[in-house]
Amino acid sequence: MWAVTGPGDLGARIASWRAGGRRIAFVPTMGNLHAGHLALVQRARALAERVVVSVFVNPTQFAPGEDYDSYPRTLEADRRRLEAAGVDLLFAPEVRAIYPHAVQIDASYPVPTVGQGLEDAFRPGFFSGVITVVKRLFDLVAPDVAVFGEKDYQQLCVVRAMVRELGLPIDIASVETVREADGLALSSRNQYLSAHEREIAPQLQRTLREVAAAVGAGETAFARLESQAMERLRGVGFVPDYVCLRAVETLRPLAVGARAGVVLAAARLGRARLIDNVIF
Ligand code: PAF
Repeated sequence: MWAVTGPGDLGARIASWRAGGRRIAFVPTMGNLHAGHLALVQRARALAERVVVSVFVNPTQFAPGEDYDSYPRTLEADRRRLEAAGVDLLFAPEVRAIYPHAVQIDASYPVPTVGQGLEDAFRPGFFSGVITVVKRLFDLVAPDVAVFGEKDYQQLCVVRAMVRELGLPIDIASVETVREADGLALSSRNQYLSAHEREIAPQLQRTLREVAAAVGAGETAFARLESQAMERLRGVGFVPDYVCLRAVETLRPLAVGARAGVVLAAARLGRARLIDNVIF
């Protein structure tokens, strides 16, 4: 596995693969890799002959007061895991390689409408930061295909919309959320949970499954289902930001009578903010 930190070295390696006609898959990450990331890598390997993974904790997607400084950085362990997983190139840039002029969002392209509401209501500016870094990474890597997880479902929709709106020649592939045996979605932020909170955490996924099952069984009072789910989460110790039933692609509020959709949630549990979703 090649490991590079500069855009020049990255570009040279990519150019040589392109000259040889290789198809390139890209997995952007913020590191502290777990089995969820490795599932993205596996998909990437199935989709292309060369796999590039970036590890970069992107400052512009953290609001002041969020966990940018304390976000777990485990580059050496990440490098070993990626090498063992058959990755061809690790791109682990410094902040100035991604933001050569100033650490700020790229205002030239506004966040697509699918990025309004939900996460954006509680983390204003988050998707501007994600779009900025993903666009920059796409420029540098120029992949044929990029792989994202379904756990960050709204992020996946935002990236798909960006690629479509800007006409980028990149396929976006998605991978189902990888879960612990008790249903908790894998996340680097799970390590912020105390032992007691870790026991409570799978209730998030269970609650969303119940909402999805109720809709599947014909329940149409969506607002009531959402507020009951919020209540249930509060009852076991979460501080929920939202539980929302939405259309799978547009993320618009679910139309009455719809039997297919996605239920998305974010909830604080102690120091951690967990997000999850169930597609039905
Ligand atoms: O999902 C993430 O880990 C990040 O938001 C991403 C896509 C790597 C951009 O920093």
